[in-house]
Amino acid sequence: MQDIRERLIQALQAAKDAAHVEQIRIDFLGRKGLITQLAKNVDFSKLTADEKKGFGQKLNELKQFATEKIAAAVDAYKETATRHKTNDLDLTAPGKGRRLGSLHPITLTQMELEDVFQGMGFSVLYGPEIESEFFCFEALNIPHDHPARDMQDTFWLKNQLILRTHTSANQVRTLRRFGAPIRAIFPGRCFRYEAIDPSHENTFYQCEGLVVDKNVSVANLIATMRVILSQVFKRDVKVRLRPGYFPFVEPGFELDLNCLLCGGKGCPTCKNSGWIELIPCGLVHPEVLRHGGIDPKEYSGFAFGVGLTRLAMMKFGITDIRYLNCGDLRVNEQFSTLF
Ligand code: DAH
Repeated sequence: MQDIRERLIQALQAAKDAAHVEQIRIDFLGRKGLITQLAKNVDFSKLTADEKKGFGQKLNELKQFATEKIAAAVDAYKETATRHKTNDLDLTAPGKGRRLGSLHPITLTQMELEDVFQGMGFSVLYGPEIESEFFCFEALNIPHDHPARDMQDTFWLKNQLILRTHTSANQVRTLRRFGAPIRAIFPGRCFRYEAIDPSHENTFYQCEGLVVDKNVSVANLIATMRVILSQVFKRDVKVRLRPGYFPFVEPGFELDLNCLLCGGKGCPTCKNSGWIELIPCGLVHPEVLRHGGIDPKEYSGFAFGVGLTRLAMMKFGITDIRYLNCGDLRVNEQFSTLF
């Protein structure tokens, strides 16, 4: 019996899991188990009454010892199993999931502009980034030898195609396609061969706008710009209008925005002037209307070119244009909370 007791203890110490413990129970206490067999192997007729009693007592003690040790081992495994399960449900553990992506500040600004303009009855149209010289220049009253071409350093492709230098290229495309009256914006990417600095990039975004209808005046243009900017900046903004020259508008203006970064005091972003050139605009030149197949005696219109990239910089307080195209996700992540 002492031998069996020791073997049981050893076996339980070596056990690795609940199934192992159950096998030990069968080996010792099962029908053919060591302890069960003990009683069967003894010839009780040869024992005295006292010996029988003594044997019976020892055997019961051994059975009880074995039962208790095995039960304790089973309990120990149950407890570990439950602890594992509870750990799996630890609600305070940090999440493992992928972070959600976030939209680029320019995309956010573009979406907001589209929303505001759509609310005012404008269509949102997208033109090609690879353009013909005609729609980018000639149709806009900028012939080959016109000095205005020097203002926009152009990337040339093969077959006389170019990367559009401005979204104004959509004006005549759209007039030819839809005619008048029309109210539309054309947001998109533009390209120029620029020397890069905090406010110039070779790739930037504009949002062109075009309204052609009967009796459209400068008053309509100014009113529209005021509504748009106050909605975008969600506060009253200071603007100023001064004459500007663009071959495709007559008269032409520069609409400047009081710099929101420095409040007009002057900073690198506004080149210390306190003003940001934001929206060049004007009344559509009769020649442009004619190129679009519209009779300038019957219709008039206004056009404007919002600097979408500049607008995003103003809106989010981004001081250097180079952050926007740098491809560093940490730039985007700062704006994800805006959704
Ligand atoms: N396309 C011009 C540029 O990129 C900006 C512009 C000026 C657009 C006057 C207009 C406008 O619609 O009326 O420099």
